[in-house]
Amino acid sequence: KAEEKSGGDDLFEQELRKANAEMINENPAKVLGAFNKLTHTYAHEPLAHLKRAQALEQLAEKQHSNRLLHEAIESYKRYLAFDDLIANEREFRSAGERCIEHLRFLGYLQQTVAIHELLIERYPAESVLRNELSLSYLMANNYVKLQQVAAETLQRWPKDAVSQLHFGLAIKQLSGDYARALPYLQYAIDSQEVGTQEPYFYVVLGETLQRLGRNKDALELHQRGADKQFFASVYQRSLYNEPGLRAQPFWQPGETGYASQLKQLQQSWRVIRQEALSLLNARGNFQPEAEQLRHTGNWQQFELFAQGKRQHSNCQRAPLTCALLDKLPASSGCLRGQVKFSAMQAQTHVWPHCGPTNCRLRAHLTLVAPEPQLTSLRVAEQQRTWREGELFIFDDSFEHEVWHNGTQLRLVLILDLWHPDLSEVQRRSLSPI
Ligand code: LMR
Ligand code: MN
Repeated sequence: KAEEKSGGDDLFEQELRKANAEMINENPAKVLGAFNKLTHTYAHEPLAHLKRAQALEQLAEKQHSNRLLHEAIESYKRYLAFDDLIANEREFRSAGERCIEHLRFLGYLQQTVAIHELLIERYPAESVLRNELSLSYLMANNYVKLQQVAAETLQRWPKDAVSQLHFGLAIKQLSGDYARALPYLQYAIDSQEVGTQEPYFYVVLGETLQRLGRNKDALELHQRGADKQFFASVYQRSLYNEPGLRAQPFWQPGETGYASQLKQLQQSWRVIRQEALSLLNARGNFQPEAEQLRHTGNWQQFELFAQGKRQHSNCQRAPLTCALLDKLPASSGCLRGQVKFSAMQAQTHVWPHCGPTNCRLRAHLTLVAPEPQLTSLRVAEQQRTWREGELFIFDDSFEHEVWHNGTQLRLVLILDLWHPDLSEVQRRSLSPI
């Protein structure tokens, strides 16, 4: 490896001091100008690029500017590209790690791979660096690569908890082979090691246990998750939560503040049913549920509003229903929910699951339900069924599970509503889900 720059280049030092001095005023244009000059004059000097990166990331953080962060990343990449010419290990490694952190933050997950590989090649004895690569694949939902990288890491470090976790997550997702995934997930969570203790990992292990019929073990795990405050409670396991909201499995309309608006909607249930049935009978309009929640049977949906946005082409095919929902902005404008028809065929079982957020309540307006005694919705420890023309409300951040053991279609309009305890300001500023 080449020598670090020896003391001779005072000019570089001077230029760097000048550029750093610009930081005081926090004027992005001036800082950029000064550091651009530095990296232009000293393009061959790795440190120029590193210093530019560090200055811009600082400024980006202060000003919450993604554009400056972007510039910082580019400088980090140029610095890292000198690779063999850099002797300062601490500096090189931390530059790589910062660069990855920023790329992840901006969602440029594909671009992290080259940086991960640079680090792995330089420090081949470090399993953590490989686990960071597989973590980026997990963040990108690239389960094929996740499995591949984790499997390779396990070849060399069979007891590594994070690679076991990543391998287990991939197995469950790709093959649905819960029995095979379980020992990996269980080992990882029980290890308590850094990188294994995230709420989402507890959710996945819990699901795996439940799907293997190990309900007592699942309950115990969920209790551990609640003790760690990963979950609001044993049964309420949503991951995107606002503090302080009332939480109970079922709600009476009168408790929500939406009672009269819901009553109005409910009175039109036959009109809504007519639209839903026409769409369903025309075929090809409803989409299969796509989150691997279905154990058996057939369960399809037709979306009208999502994340507070009207689904225009679908609403054109259900204009009366959508017009009715326009009068209920707490639902049609709910950034953390949807409005959709949900068609469940006979002999369907939906695995226990929790919705993503405690910021909404979920109402079901029942449109077709000829066999109430053969269908059931469990929310936490309470159970109920569907009856035509009725409306009920539950909090889907609580664990719920559905059975349809009958012989005929069950059809409902599902409408999410902003949790009534959320202020107008919160409703406007919460990120969509
Ligand atoms: C759910 O929210 O998972 C179910 O209640 C949906 C449905 O169609 O019953
Ligand atoms: Mn659900």
